[in-house]
Amino acid sequence: MKIKNICCIGAGYVGGPTMAVIAQKCPAIKVTVVDINEQRIAAWNDEDLSKLPVYEPGLDEIVAQARGKNLFFSTQVDEAIAAADMIFISVNTPTKTYGKGKGMAADLKYIELCARQIARVATSDKIVVEKSTLPVRTASAIKSILDNTGNGSSVKFQILSNPEFLAEGTAVSDLLNPDRVLIGGDNTTDAGKEAIEALVSVYGQWVPQERILTTNVWSSELSKLTANAFLAQRVSSINAMSELCEKTEADVNEVARAIGMDSRIGAKFLKASVGFGGSCFQKDILNLVYIAKTYGLNEVADYWEQVILMNDHQKRRFAHNIISTLFNTVSGKKIAFLGWAFKKDTNDTRESAAIYVADELLNEQAQIAVYDPKVQTQQMYTDLDYLNTRPSAANQAGLTVHQNPYEACKDAHAIAILTEWDEFKTYDWQKIYDQMQKPAFIFDGRGILNLEELEKIGFVCYQIGSSAKQL
Ligand code: NAD
Ligand code: UDX
Repeated sequence: MKIKNICCIGAGYVGGPTMAVIAQKCPAIKVTVVDINEQRIAAWNDEDLSKLPVYEPGLDEIVAQARGKNLFFSTQVDEAIAAADMIFISVNTPTKTYGKGKGMAADLKYIELCARQIARVATSDKIVVEKSTLPVRTASAIKSILDNTGNGSSVKFQILSNPEFLAEGTAVSDLLNPDRVLIGGDNTTDAGKEAIEALVSVYGQWVPQERILTTNVWSSELSKLTANAFLAQRVSSINAMSELCEKTEADVNEVARAIGMDSRIGAKFLKASVGFGGSCFQKDILNLVYIAKTYGLNEVADYWEQVILMNDHQKRRFAHNIISTLFNTVSGKKIAFLGWAFKKDTNDTRESAAIYVADELLNEQAQIAVYDPKVQTQQMYTDLDYLNTRPSAANQAGLTVHQNPYEACKDAHAIAILTEWDEFKTYDWQKIYDQMQKPAFIFDGRGILNLEELEKIGFVCYQIGSSAKQL
């Protein structure tokens, strides 16, 4: 079966870039990305490519090439579903904030709504692809909805799991050159095999066959949660070591290098930091913990939960270190934040460590001044308000946002590096130092600055995992 028309429900950080790349690589397929968020769709359609709702290096070029040819962004969800022979569900699956599983389980209401809408609208056979990250065995719930809530016609549905492994900030290169593409499907029936093959041939347009893995649906669903759990675990593991390094005169960068050269361990994902953020790691591990608990696997649940607890600790201890270093009080002191995004090269702030560090410092009545090259001002306030720690007006009063890093740092008692944006390395640090209160402190939560040079200028420096720089 040759796919001619793809619909993707959800025009977010995954749906947008993924479909843009599919459209660019498969000119014979019409790809329509739909969303109920009108503003988001309008932004995807904006003539001015700097206004795309997702910032990713290289994405504007790909959208420019495909948009209007075989890539479309629309709010007409029903029409796009009806016309498609393959439908990707790429909606958000946040942690539940209410009821059973609150704070842990994935909230599947958006997924269920999509399934019901597909069932209601479809008049021809569809391959439904789970692109969102989902708890293992969700496909059976989707199948049950599709098969039992339809309009009574004889429409047939095949469900595939095709989790997305792109990382933000490198989404385009990850999509163009993925380590692997994972496709889970019903490999026990001819119709199931045909559906798998149809999706394999879409990716086969640019991904070498040996990198396209096919598995049963459950392995595919669970592999996504497992991959994120393993990745996050590496960060928490090196962050745990960073604290020990600070006490023992070991240097976490040297330790990471030494262990990373062991090919069994590998060099990637060993960068100690102020704590991992992003929309996926925490949510997916909590989900994994919840699933394990529902099967009564308490040891499994506790094991993975520790990854989150370690991460919370790392964010908190970074903030507390700022407070204790600044003579145990930050009340009324200006603290400059360089970076608010959860990592460089993205405008995404979901679960960013910066939010939690800011929250701790605001509790101590600090005056925070933020500069981030890509994050919008309103987003920062929304992030803080979401925590519900204090009234919105108090967040507005305690945090100011600057369009210029030198302005943000002027008169500050301390600078905290929260995101590893490359431009931070190129600043005129002497100029920044001259305009700060003394002693001028720097807390490098990303290990990106050259501390020797900064110390020569006169800064008092702290870097995660480095005892030599301990104050
Ligand atoms: P997102 O919040 O950026 O986008 C989801 C979009 O879905 C939103 O624009 C929302 O309006 C839309 N939506 C929700 N319900 C809808 C409905 N019924 N009809 C039409 N549109 C609807 O989320 P995201 O970051 O793109 O993540 C989507 C999924 O992909 C999640 O399950 C996530 O875990 C997974 N994932 C994310 C990443 C990542 O880096 N962000 C990577 C891999 C996997
Ligand atoms: C992650 C997974 O990498 C990706 O495969 C999945 O599809 C979605 O979740 P993402 O969250 O976009 O991607 O970014 P990632 O590069 O994994 O970084 C996550 C967080 O960990 C960031 O806050 C990053 O700064 C932090 N991190 C990462 C570290 O602190 N140290 C590291 O060595 C690596």
